[in-house]
Amino acid sequence: MKNFSSTDIKVCDGKNGAPSYVAVENKVYDVSGSSKWKDGTHMRRHQAGNDLTTDIKSAPHGLEVLDRVSLVGQFKTEAKNYQSTSRATVEALLERHPFFRRHPHPAVVHFPLALLMMSSFLEIMAILTASDRTEWAAYLSLIVGLITVPAAIVTGYFTWWINYESKGSPIINSKKNLAWVVLAVGLVAFLIRTFAVASPLDISDIRLMVYLGNLLILSGLVSTIGFLGGKLTFPYE
Ligand code: HEM
Ligand code: HEM
Repeated sequence: MKNFSSTDIKVCDGKNGAPSYVAVENKVYDVSGSSKWKDGTHMRRHQAGNDLTTDIKSAPHGLEVLDRVSLVGQFKTEAKNYQSTSRATVEALLERHPFFRRHPHPAVVHFPLALLMMSSFLEIMAILTASDRTEWAAYLSLIVGLITVPAAIVTGYFTWWINYESKGSPIINSKKNLAWVVLAVGLVAFLIRTFAVASPLDISDIRLMVYLGNLLILSGLVSTIGFLGGKLTFPYE
């Protein structure tokens, strides 16, 4: 059986008439004939020409799907030389616990997304219904949402470092900048509500309106960052 290196399969990416080869657990498969791998792309996110051993572990199917495509050779993995020892240590850990390679960021981000968007919605409902309980719920959503933002930022930088080799792109740069803006706007909203707003349902108070404005900006920012994240994970052309 033929032996392939990562350079050999790199060119078999299904583009410009090239065949589509994928490597999984030291074996190389030809997926060119599969309608699920049109032009070398699978489910809009996996690209032929690569070793997808780690990726297939987070797929909704197991390795049994590989029985449907033809085995064409053995894959020889070259030992990776990471530039820093910290990277090598983290890679060794992720080898043992592949779950932590991609899951932490998506698992964490839905907290700031849901809570910060909920906060502005609840605040509007509180003003419309003159309900101080709803206003309190909006305030708590803001606080808990804000606490979860650093976790989203840390896991975001982590996945960028590990899975994107810290390479910049317009989407990643926007996400990085906007995430810090979210933290700053959220803190300002928290400070205004905690120390400046005297009567949280008095709409004639300009400080309440500034607070509401901050919450609405937060909702917009956090949903934009989430949308940009979705574009990275599911890159629709
Ligand atoms: C999030 C990741 C993935 C998703 C959502 C996904 C989804 C799917 C779905 C829905 C099918 C069709 C299942 C069926 O017909 O019963 C399929 C088939 C298949 N998948 Fe994936 N998959 C993923 C990752 C991968 C990866 C990383 C590989 C690596 C080799 C892979 C290899 C295959 C193969 C070989 C087939 C069979 C194709 C055929 O029958 O023509 N998948 N996948
Ligand atoms: C408030 C902060 C943030 C939110 C709400 C957020 C939200 C999201 C969401 C919803 C996704 C799609 C996840 C999925 O469905 O798989 C995503 C992906 C991603 N985010 Fe963030 N993000 C934040 C901050 C950051 C930061 C600071 C970075 C640093 C560069 C970052 C880097 C990434 C990367 C690289 C992906 C793609 C993940 C992958 O392919 O595994 N994010 N983000």
